[in-house]
Amino acid sequence: MNQKNIRNMIIYRGKIAALGLLILCLMGSEFASAQQRPPRENRGNQPPADNDNNGRNGNRGVPDPLEDADYYENNEHPEDKVILGNLLFYDKILSGNMNISCATCHHAMADTGDGLSLSAGEGGMGLGITRALGVGDDAVHERIPRNAPALFAVGATEFDTIFHDGRIQRDDTMPSGIASPAGTDLPEGLDNVLAAQALFPLTSGAEMAGQASENPIGTAAANGDLAGPNGVWQLITERLRANAAYVDLFQAAYDDVSVAGDITIVHAANAIAAFEASSWPSNNSPFDRFLRGDNSALSNLERQGMRLFYGRARCSTCHSGPLLSDFDFHAIAMPQIGPGKGVGVNGHEDFGRELVTGDPDHRYEFRTPPLRNVALTAPYGHSGAYDTLEAIVTHYTDPEGSLRNYDRDNFVAPSREDLDAIDFAVMDNPELVDEIADANFLRRGILQEEDVPAVVAFLKSLTDPDNLDLRHNVPSEVPSGLPVFD
Ligand code: HEC
Ligand code: HEC
Repeated sequence: MNQKNIRNMIIYRGKIAALGLLILCLMGSEFASAQQRPPRENRGNQPPADNDNNGRNGNRGVPDPLEDADYYENNEHPEDKVILGNLLFYDKILSGNMNISCATCHHAMADTGDGLSLSAGEGGMGLGITRALGVGDDAVHERIPRNAPALFAVGATEFDTIFHDGRIQRDDTMPSGIASPAGTDLPEGLDNVLAAQALFPLTSGAEMAGQASENPIGTAAANGDLAGPNGVWQLITERLRANAAYVDLFQAAYDDVSVAGDITIVHAANAIAAFEASSWPSNNSPFDRFLRGDNSALSNLERQGMRLFYGRARCSTCHSGPLLSDFDFHAIAMPQIGPGKGVGVNGHEDFGRELVTGDPDHRYEFRTPPLRNVALTAPYGHSGAYDTLEAIVTHYTDPEGSLRNYDRDNFVAPSREDLDAIDFAVMDNPELVDEIADANFLRRGILQEEDVPAVVAFLKSLTDPDNLDLRHNVPSEVPSGLPVFD
């Protein structure tokens, strides 16, 4: 299908939506106004204890509260495996130039993210919003093209679609049970999608591997050699095998590791996943307490926001279920910022789900993000385009207008002339902005300006107080002896 046909089709889709809207308005129903594709089936439909407004603004689709049974292993992971995973997560030994760890972009002190719109990968220096781009030849080459998501509740079994474009997904047709960019090269024995995910930052030149010729891992990554005998995963495994402290830790964690040579990258990935899954469950927010029947857990304003979210504002069409995500993909006119994914007319676009499915119908669709602890996880959206909850919620009052009038002060990333020069390459191109607007699924005006404070208040009630202080995640030292303080 050529570009013009696609465009026509998108416009056609828009017209149908407009016609539908007209009919529904004539019917006088706020509710039947399905503004989006039908969501996947909701797990929980239990009416909340607060039924004072059931009916017109009813609470249909309100989920069950999250509980331990919703997580892998009932949220009980073997301690030795978790300890090993915690150390690996904070150890720069996993990166080609030994200068960055998983925690650099998912730090306990930055609510399991990094507080930036777009991360500064290997070669950068420092943590969180003070992270700088590094100096000289070692400095970062480009921004990471997408926002680093927080990792709250990633151990929930429902969290089966990973990354903003879902390129890792549970898939029983694959030998490993998991679809990923590695296809059939993905090793078997991975515990779950989270373990599969842990293999991929290692293979990214910009994130952890480093550039070709800087180190053998960077070179293997640049050659696309992931699973070969001299590929990224094997080279990292050799490093772990050569470290006596790690050999002890792997032996303690796994029955099938007796000597260094038994260690595989799958053991490492499964340990990291056990650490991630067990560290940030999020079951005790005021919203969960309310769902368990404690009517006093939410204030009047928060309840008003909840009714909007599950009622007139239709947020739960996509933000459904206990994690407040359908784990499906939608285009919502999100501004596109940063270097992009090497596609589109100037190479700085990000086609989102289309990059995985190859289907132009999926252009600019991104996974609905789960909203647990969302008040802690700014900036928002796949490119970190909105810096506050007020800003992202206001986007929903007029998605296309918000895209076109985007306030660039929302973008938070360390400045460097050559990187700054391409940050707004898409937003500076009116035709590309039109394309993003045309693909938008959302209707304008469903959410009103005056609704924003209540919806924001409701979103803040999704914060679990147990997730506020994560200092205990940070190890004082790691087996490689590499620094953990930056
Ligand atoms: C340079 C920053 C950086 C580093 C280092 C990094 N990540 Fe990430 N992480 C990201 C970004 C950016 C994304 C989103 C990428 C995308 O969706 O395309 C992400 C996504 C994820 C996700 C998926 C979350 C979701 O909502 O789907 C998990 C889990 C994760 N990272 C864990 C890890 C682990 C484990 C490591 C170390 C092996 C690691 N990350 C290293 C930046 C980083
Ligand atoms: C059509 C499906 C859909 C509807 C309806 C919807 N959202 Fe979203 N939401 C998304 C998608 C998709 C994204 C991510 C878009 C991107 O990254 O490009 C998102 C992102 C968000 C984010 C940012 C989260 C983060 O971690 O980055 C918040 C907050 C949010 N939505 C709240 C709401 C609220 C409040 C409503 C109702 C007013 C709503 N959404 C309605 C699909 C939807």
